[in-house]
Parts: sequence; C-alpha cells; structure tokens
Amino acid sequence: MQNQSYASAAVITGQPATGHSPAQCPVEETICPVVAHDWVNEEYKHLVVKATPKALAAKPGQFFQLLCPSPDEGEVWFRRPQSVYRVARSSGRLEFLYKVVGRGTKGLATLVPGDNLSMVGPLGVGFKLEPGWKNVVVLGRGVGLATMAPISQLAGERGVRVTAILSARSEELAMAADLFETVGTVIKVLDTDGTSAAENVEAILRRLIAEHKADAFFTCGSNRLMQLMKRLGREHHIPGQMAMEQIMACGLGPCYICVRTFEVNGKREMRRVCVEGPVFDLQECLGW
Ligand SMILES: Cc1cc2nc3c(=O)[nH]c(=O)nc-3n(C[C@H](O)[C@H](O)[C@H](O)COP(=O)(O)OP(=O)(O)OC[C@H]3O[C@@H](n4cnc5c(N)ncnc54)[C@H](O)[C@@H]3O)c2cc1C
Ligand code: FES
Repeated sequence: MQNQSYASAAVITGQPATGHSPAQCPVEETICPVVAHDWVNEEYKHLVVKATPKALAAKPGQFFQLLCPSPDEGEVWFRRPQSVYRVARSSGRLEFLYKVVGRGTKGLATLVPGDNLSMVGPLGVGFKLEPGWKNVVVLGRGVGLATMAPISQLAGERGVRVTAILSARSEELAMAADLFETVGTVIKVLDTDGTSAAENVEAILRRLIAEHKADAFFTCGSNRLMQLMKRLGREHHIPGQMAMEQIMACGLGPCYICVRTFEVNGKREMRRVCVEGPVFDLQECLGW
C-alpha cells in the first residue's frame, strides 16, 4: 500500500465471542513508527504513533497492549495495557498519555521518534453513548483522565455537552484540560487546595444533577470516586459506565489473570476485564 509507513501487521485469529476470544478478533499486531514522544509533566508522557486503519478504528475506552522495550539489561515480560488517548484519523495518528511508573513504562519512555512500537489491538469493550443523552458527566483521576478523553471527544462530535471533572494531586497533573474544554465545561478538583475531597465532588455532582446536566456518568481512575458516582447514579437513576484498570498478561481472554468480581442482578460474577471490559456498567462494579 502506498504511503503506508507502519512496518508490518499480523493478525491473531479466533472466533468472536467464544468465551476465550475477544469479540474484535481477528486482533492485529502492528509495528508502528513513533512520530512524537514528549514529557507532559514530570510523571506523564504523550506518545504519538503512525497507525494502521484498523488501529485508527479504535473506539473510546478500548486499549492496546504495547510491547515496551527494556529500560535495563533484563527482560520486560508481557505487554502493558494503555488506553487510547486520542485518534487523529485525518493524519493517521494514534496517541497515548501514560504515567511512567515501573519497568515497562520506563522502557516505553525511552522510545524516540523514528523508533518502532509493537502494538496489539484495539482490544476490549469501550464506552457506549446512547442517542438520547444530551449532557454527560465524566469524572477522572490520574491515569483515568487519559481514558476519559476519547469518550468526551466523541460526545462533543455528537453534540452532547460534557462536564469534565478532572481530579488530580496538583494543577500540573490535571491533564488534558484543553481537550476537555473543546467539548464542554472543565471543573478541576485538586488535592493541593482540598477541592478533590469526596464531599466537594459530591456537591458538584449533586448540583449538575439538579441542573439536568447529568444524563449519564462516565468514570475511571479512582475507587473512591467510582463509589461516589455509583451511589449517586443509583439514587437518581442515572446510567453509568466505569473503565476498570487491572493487571493483565495476554489482554486477549485466555489467561484469566485479569478476572475481577462484579455484581450482576444481585449475584457475584467473575469477569475478565480485558475482553468483557475494560468498560463496565457502573452499578455492576465493586470497589477494590
Ligand atoms: C485497560 C487499561 C488501560 C490503561 N490505560 C492507561 C493509560 O491510558 N495511561 C496510563 O498511564 N496507564 C494506563 N493503564 C495502566 C498501565 O497499564 C500501567 O500503569 C502499566 O501497565 C504499568 O506498567 P509498568 O511496568 O511501568 O509498572 P509496574 O508497576 O512495574 O508493573 C508491574 C506489572 O503490573 C501491571 N500494572 C501495574 N500497574 C497497573 C495498573 N494501574 N493497571 C494495570 N496493570 C498494572 C503491569 O502491566 C505489569 O504487568 C491502563 C491499564 C489498563 C488495564
Ligand atoms: S484473560 Fe489474559 S489478561 Fe485478560
């Protein structure tokens, strides 16, 4: 194919929804050139790659398993899951916003423009946006902010008004505010001034509910905030979705490393976050 700058693509085949295979099979492994890779602040990096058409079809909330180079002489076992931060289809670019925490992401952070990145995906079940919703609330904290960006973008494209509550330790870590501002209102709640306290976030959510600005809730990145949204959602019959983070190995369904317990119709149920999620009905999510 002309102008195709990614190096190679392979597929992992399987029958859809057989219990072991992800519904999006065949899943693709691609080697994508790094286009840009910059520090956003002292903890997070923004990674941009040139991606294949299939990768660019990723939906909000879906993720890729990235093969991270080793940051030292040892091996890095397993790929690392990272949700899509932004898809720029016109320029064929896919973006990730990630926190550098351990050996995998430290290795990932060493990539420079021109290097290749092996990615498997897009994986998992993403967010859903119902046609009747006119105003939605997204609430993210920490790395959860990266995951919430694409659903906010999609809502904006569909004319749905977004109120984004960005919770962070400090102003500098309340990232992507400019992206959220393009589709609605941003409210930053910080540890530094105490506004991230659950009571304050609850007061903000209650105000938004009273003002009819909360047809649906979306959240990621904090157990405490998830529990709060879940309680208010139940109280006011507001549907909600939660993007779960969970340690993964294969990311494709067979290893069952990523199993978590959910509560479905009053019964406890084990589900794999990588294929049955990572986005789940908020009322079915249990804390951790
Ligand atoms: C579906 C999904 C989407 C994610 N999206 C993002 C994102 O957009 N931005 C971002 O910064 N982070 C995201 N994460 C978290 C990210 O995967 C971890 O921060 C990363 O795997 C840490 O790897 P490490 O080797 O640097 O850290 P280490 O702590 O050394 O990792 C050791 C092991 O634990 C796993 N692990 C550690 N922390 C997490 C975690 N929070 N979630 C899942 N596995 C973890 C690693 O994958 C690795 O297998 C996401 C996680 C999941 C499951
Ligand atoms: S089944 Fe292997 S990570 Fe989910």
